[in-house]
Amino acid sequence: MGADGGAVARASVPDARGGRVSGGVDGNFVAPLPAESTRLTLHTMTTWTPLHNQPYHPIPYHPNRIPLAEALAESAAFRRRMDERRTVRMFSPDPVPEQLVLDAIAVANTAPSGAHQQPWTFVLVEDPQVRARIREAAEAEERISYRGRLGEEWLSALRPLGTDEHKPHLTDAPYLLVVFQQRFGLRPDGTTYKHYYGDESVGIAVGMLLTALHLAGLAALTHTPSPMKFLTEVLGRPRNEKAFAVIPIGYPAADAVVPDLVRKSMDQVLVRIRSDATHQAAVVSGLTG
Ligand SMILES: Cc1cc2nc3c(=O)[nH]c(=O)nc-3n(C[C@H](O)[C@H](O)[C@H](O)COP(=O)(O)O)c2cc1C
Repeated sequence: MGADGGAVARASVPDARGGRVSGGVDGNFVAPLPAESTRLTLHTMTTWTPLHNQPYHPIPYHPNRIPLAEALAESAAFRRRMDERRTVRMFSPDPVPEQLVLDAIAVANTAPSGAHQQPWTFVLVEDPQVRARIREAAEAEERISYRGRLGEEWLSALRPLGTDEHKPHLTDAPYLLVVFQQRFGLRPDGTTYKHYYGDESVGIAVGMLLTALHLAGLAALTHTPSPMKFLTEVLGRPRNEKAFAVIPIGYPAADAVVPDLVRKSMDQVLVRIRSDATHQAAVVSGLTG
């Protein structure tokens, strides 16, 4: 337990690759963590480099198991809290503490990714002039989209959301976070390497980002103006990056409204293959999958 009564992150494994690990037998790196992080055992190399051809180097991972009663209470509370998350399109100009946004990006950066390639770049835009340029370019694309490019089926799916070609959130929200997907890895010498499961990896990272923002009491919008190529140019990103989403972040406007939506029920999204004996027997005999 740490001095504050919380557990501490601890790892006592020397890093054969010369990297620093958190924790350590001498206690030098044993730092108390805030309550929500205490169950993790962290192993952090000093710097990330592409893993190609590095040997497999297992290290112990022994997070504390959460007592069941606590786990049930926490997961129920988390579920309730996440059910309150809504996409917000009307933002207050109130300033947002920068650290909350940086923490959420750091959370996104912990996401799992194909071959641990972390194929994402987060560009955090505060500059009102840059945001104005992004809004202008996005609205130009959206005008074309809403006036026909999307097609009737897509437009009819969007109608209940009340969205149109006007995107005031791009300049109203105090922060604009543009998430880029690195389509391939780019070394400083200009050589490239493949990325695997980039779409899935960045999608998971953005999901974790949105979760972290919500838990910090912030609102966000996952905005995907299509096409998004202009973002690479406006933000001067390298050739291996393509924009994945534009995420205005802030507090909801005092008079913010959201569309009245119903989420699918568990019955509609969950298929269970139970481990009862009858079912197992049926699977084994090939009667059911
Ligand atoms: C991949 C993705 C793209 C989206 N693109 C847009 C968008 O371009 N504009 C917009 O207003 N909302 C966009 N949304 C937000 C969805 O409309 C919203 O998540 C959905 O209506 C459900 O509402 P909720 O997030 O409040 O539960 C997007 C969401 C996702 C996940």
